[in-house]
Amino acid sequence: MIVYLNGKAYEASPGEQVLQVALRNNIYIPHLCFHEKTGKAAKCRACVVEV
Ligand code: FES
Repeated sequence: MIVYLNGKAYEASPGEQVLQVALRNNIYIPHLCFHEKTGKAAKCRACVVEV
């Protein structure tokens, strides 16, 4: 699947989060409660982006 971030196309797997795609491609999105090993807590709202 292809997702577009800032107008550029990036590969994403089904179920993958926008934050994960961005971080893998060196696009920084601020995040406080997400960690690769613990997953999403989705409580701080620091990673909210416009869709
Ligand atoms: S990092 Fe996304 S809600 Fe906290």
